[in-house]
This record gives sequence, structure tokens and C-alpha cells, in this order.
Amino acid sequence: MSSITKKQQPSGQQSSLLDLAQEDPDLVRARKLAAELEYHNYLYHTLDAPIISDEAYDALYRELVALEERRPDLRTADSPTLRVGGRLLEGLSKKAHRHRMYGLDNVFSEQEWRDFVERMERAWDVQANGALPLTFWCDPKLDGLALEIIYENGVLQEALTRGDGEIGEVVTEAVRTIRTVPLRLHGADPLPVRLEVRGEVVLFRKDFVALNARQKALGRKTFSNARNAAAGTLRQLDLSETGSRPLRFLAYSLGEVDWGHAAPCLYHSALMARLSEYGFLTPPEGKLCFAPDEVVRYVQWVHDNRQNFPVDIDGAVAKQDNLEVQKVLGFTARAPRFAVAFKFPAMQAQTLLQAIEVQVGRTGALTPVAVLTPVAVGGVIVSRATLHNEAEIRKRDVRVGDTVIVQRAGDVIPEVVGPVLAMRPKDSQEFVFPSTCPACGQPVYREAGEAILRCANLSCPAVRLRSIIHFVSKTGLDVQGVGQKWIAQLVQCERIQSPADLFTLTVQELQQFERMGEKLAQNFVDALEAARTTAPLHRLVSALGIRHVGEQTARALAIRFHDLDALKNASIETLQAMPDIGPEVAASIHNFFASPANCVLMERFKTLGLWPTQGSCEASGDDEPERQLPVGPLSGKTILFTGTLSVPRGKAQQWAESVGAVHLSGVSKKLDYLVAGEKAGSKLEKARLLGVTVLDEAAFRKLLEESGVLFA
Ligand code: IVH
Repeated sequence: MSSITKKQQPSGQQSSLLDLAQEDPDLVRARKLAAELEYHNYLYHTLDAPIISDEAYDALYRELVALEERRPDLRTADSPTLRVGGRLLEGLSKKAHRHRMYGLDNVFSEQEWRDFVERMERAWDVQANGALPLTFWCDPKLDGLALEIIYENGVLQEALTRGDGEIGEVVTEAVRTIRTVPLRLHGADPLPVRLEVRGEVVLFRKDFVALNARQKALGRKTFSNARNAAAGTLRQLDLSETGSRPLRFLAYSLGEVDWGHAAPCLYHSALMARLSEYGFLTPPEGKLCFAPDEVVRYVQWVHDNRQNFPVDIDGAVAKQDNLEVQKVLGFTARAPRFAVAFKFPAMQAQTLLQAIEVQVGRTGALTPVAVLTPVAVGGVIVSRATLHNEAEIRKRDVRVGDTVIVQRAGDVIPEVVGPVLAMRPKDSQEFVFPSTCPACGQPVYREAGEAILRCANLSCPAVRLRSIIHFVSKTGLDVQGVGQKWIAQLVQCERIQSPADLFTLTVQELQQFERMGEKLAQNFVDALEAARTTAPLHRLVSALGIRHVGEQTARALAIRFHDLDALKNASIETLQAMPDIGPEVAASIHNFFASPANCVLMERFKTLGLWPTQGSCEASGDDEPERQLPVGPLSGKTILFTGTLSVPRGKAQQWAESVGAVHLSGVSKKLDYLVAGEKAGSKLEKARLLGVTVLDEAAFRKLLEESGVLFA
């Protein structure tokens, strides 16, 4: 921090801080406060590692505001008090970039990348320059808004949007409100005389979700994606609004630069390190790749992990690492010859909403589903998407015949974001939600405070079908090889009326179904048999489909209770005494077991031998004593499997869970162990990058044995 304070003195000035303090103590205090506030702002917003409380920060901030009010002459162009905005701009003026802000050419395949490298080689004069180095700085392509921030002698002077590349809009005031933008470059002198830092303004996904929730609560329009929200925010004229939205700036290149006495950067990789030193955030997971092949692997990794990034990304960018080589290669009319963007398939697309169907779920919930003209979204063809509920259809004003924006985010079910109003047909009509269940014709009801309509008929065929599908699904018993279509047929012909009926199916009778061969029928029965005999208790609890009881709660219940009887007999008070179980969940569990039909189902499970238990504690009357978690090297550890193991991954997961390990769905810093089999790919690479412990199968089995698992 002292270097920040020191650096604010004009160079060559002889008077010491002590002299100044005697002459003008307010000036010294103002500078000290500004430097401290900026330092804590950087720790909090850029490094995510604050060292003082919000209250302590606010106290310093208020002191500076009061000081500047009393002495307006002390208010500098880089004062942290300007970050809060609070002013209203009349409009945005325009200004030319000193260096054009080029776009990037795109490549969509490995071949196109190789063609790009070949073009680069052709443009390179080997005779004059020697061999072309093929080392590339690679980073994710951020889906935000390009921005240029100009620093003179280390102080932020101006910020311009990309505009058309030649002329941008002046957004200096708005950019000052972005907490991750240094108002003054960090680091010791000498600083560059002029530095045009380019990068992307983005909203992190979590901030976008929170912003939309706030917009909704305030009855304002919501944004269809984080990019639009970031763009809208930056060009906002009400700066107090801009300041209240957590935009971030991630720096990735330079415009014009006059290094002055500062050491120039010769490599893009060095530049990225320098930008961090100056106090900027840079794109996450940037990497230096030493050959075109390595670039391909990097791009694939970013693609496979795009959902784990905190920010929306729509590709990856590869840039020649040597800045002198960049200069020699130069630009075509459109784009640089030294850098290229690998574009990933878009996660949003436009298509026609052909119809709205109402689907009945296992809890009787009626969900409107959009039937769409098939369209590619994020590399997958989407023909149906959720519309959530009646209120959402109305709020988003979606009508049959509209051209709509469809969005996919990770594993989330595709959803309709909203209509493209300019393309709405004149005769379009609002959708009228049915007042009876489309599956059984019985009336529907809405619980107080709920947006969702439900079918109340306990024996509604759609509810039954969905419950059975859930029972065998991944969140249920996870029976692999039992397809939804077959279950639908079995329910339709009334061979199956409850999940228990599944376990009475025989190969012979299944073979009677058209297109069900002996092998398929055998697999079907085997898979159910395996589930019946090996499914752990928490899977069965989750499979029951008790409202508000998801996988996590099921796991907690299976640790606390010996078997389904013990869970059934638990009082509401006992349930509620468990961490994370509130009155609503406790009541839901209680009500489930209070239903005679469900009790009959439990008895049938017991008779059929689908009766997992956990631990050695016997149920003792009404309530059961607290059970201990298994202790061993894997208990409480998080684990994930990748690559090919000698047993199915599901089996390995069951083993791990049986000794108290918790299975995670992706690689993150929270992961304790990644068990990597043969041909492990991107998960392994990411685990190594994050420093996660990687086990091979033998080491995993050893830990299991130490936990008490016996292998034949
Ligand atoms: S480097 C000389 N790196 O994508 C070009 N650009 O489609 C230097 N973008 O206009 C740009 N993420 O606004 C670079 N990691 C990244 C980027 C990135 C997003 C933007 C940039 C550019 C556009 C081209």
C-alpha cells in the first residue's frame, strides 16, 4: 500500500510527506484514505480476499466523502468516491480509437484452425524473420462487451466502448463504477506513459441471476442473458444504477502503448502477468500452449468445462505469444493474422413456437412445455423447452406462433426466454391454461402461495407414469437400461401400476412386447434385479419422490435412519431436529408415510426384498438413536470417477458411498479425490490444474479396503 501512496507524489518532487503534512494535513489524509480505499476495494472485488469488514470500509469511505465535501479542491479524477456514481448523464459522446479495435476471425473446427496456422505461416517471411514461432497464449472467449480503458501516467483518463471498432462511445464515468477497474495502476514506478488496456466487461453468471431477481422484484424488465445485461448496464445514463450492478472488467490485450521508462512486455503471456500486477482481472484459465496441437487440446478442455466458468464464454482465443511476431504478422482488412477465435455453438437460438403442451409431472404439477421447430442450441437439437408455469407464460408474454429465444445452460432443461416481438404474427392469441388435467380430465388446484397448478387425482395415469420413471431414474434407484418408453408401454397396458410391480416382471413376458428381444428383456430384468439387491438406502428414499426430498436430503435421512420403517416411524419433531430439515420438509415426509397407499407400497418392497438398511443400529420403537457416520479414509471425502475402470462407474460410486464418501458431479476445488481410469480426459486435466488428488483404481481399492470393504 505504501507504494500506492508514494506513487501519487509527482516524480521529482522533493518535499516529503512529513513536510506536506505540516502544510496541508487534509491533503495527506485524503490521499491516504483514497489509497487505502482502493487497496481494500482491490482485495475485495478483484482478489476476492478482503481483510477488513464492510463497516470498517464504509467508515473510511464516509470520512473521504466528508473531507471532499469540505475541501472540493482535494477531489481528484481518480478518487474512489467517483465509483459510486450517483449522477445522471445526458447522453454518451463518441470518440475515435487511436488504434482500431479489430474483431477476430472465427474457426469452428480443428481443420479450420490448422488452415489458420497455415495462413499465418504463409504470411511470414522466413528468409527475413527466421522460423515462425508457434507458441500461443490461449484464453476463454468472454461473452461480454469489448472496452478500452486509457491510462496516462498510471491514472485512468478515459474509457471507450468498441463501437464499430473505429469509433466508440465514451463511458468513462460508468467504467469508474466498476470495482475491478483500477482507477490508478498498481505497482511501483515507473508506470507506462500511456496504456490503452482492452478487455471485456462481463457480469458473472451468479450476479446476472441476482440482478434479474432484483429487476423482477422491482417490477422492471429482466434481461435475456448476462451479455445484454452487461451492455445495458454500461450504457446506462443513471450512474447510481450502473454502480449498483456488479460488472467486472477482464483485461486481455492492449491498444496503443507508450511504455516510457517502464519495462516493455515482449510476450503476450508476460503482458497478462503485467496486467495482473497493474491490478486487473484477466480471463480465467489462460494458458501458454507450445504447439498448435496443444491449442486444440486446450480449446477442447475449455469447451468441455464451459459450464464451470463463472462467466459466460462462447469460445476460446489463441494469440501468437511473441508480441514482435504479432506486429510483423499484422492485420487483414477485418482481423488480426496473429489471433483467432474458436467459436463454440451458441447457447441461445431463435425458433418458432409451434404449440404449447401441458405435461403432468409426478407430483401432479402441470408444466407448460413449448413445442418448437427443432433448432441447434449449444450443439444439441432442441424441440421442446419448458415454459415453467402459467404465470411465467404471461409474464414473458409468449404466444403460439411467436418466434422465441430458446436457451440452454449446462444440464438445465432448455427454456424459452421470451418472444421476438418484432416477429409476432398479427392474429396471435394469449395461451389459456386448462382448468382440468389433460391426462385424466379431473379438476386442477393451486396451493396457496404457489404458482403451479396441480392435478389432485392420486391415481392420475400421468402422475403414476412420472412417479415410476422417477423411481428408476438417476435421482432414484438409478436403474440403467430401463428406458422411459418401455415404462410408458407397461403403464399404459396396466401391467405396472406401482414401482413395486417392476420387480415382478419376467423375461418371458417382456419379450411379448414388440421390438423387445431376449437380450434387451434380460438386461431389463437384470438391471432391476441389481438395483433390488444393491441399491443403498438413500437411493430408495430419493426414489420414493417425497416432495421436497431431493438427493441431498435423502442422503441425510439414510445416514440418520436405519431403514424405511425407522424413517416412517420418525416423529415430525425428530425429523425437524435434523440439520437442514425444516417444518415443510418434515411435514412432507410425515404425510408421505401417513398415506395408507404408501404404507402398502413399503410392505411390498419389504416382501420383494427391496429393503436396504444402513449401519448396524436396530430401529428402537418410535425414534432411533443418532447414528455415527462410518469412519475411514473415505468418510466425508468428496470423490468423482472418470475414465474406464474395471467395474462400471456406478458400482465404484456405490462402494465409495457405502463407506461415507460423497459423490460430486464435476471437478472443482471442493473435490478431494478424482479416481481416474484408462482414457481419462478433461476431468483429469482439470483436477491436475486445481491440485486435486488423483487416484488410480488400485489406490482407490486400497482406500476402500482400509475402510472395511472386502473384495473377493
Ligand atoms: S483478444 C486483436 N481475447 O471477442 C484482438 N478477445 O469476436 C484482440 N473477446 O473483439 C482480442 N474474449 O472483444 C481477445 N479472451 C479474449 C476475448 C476477446 C472476448 C472479444 C473481443 C473481440 C471479439 C472478437
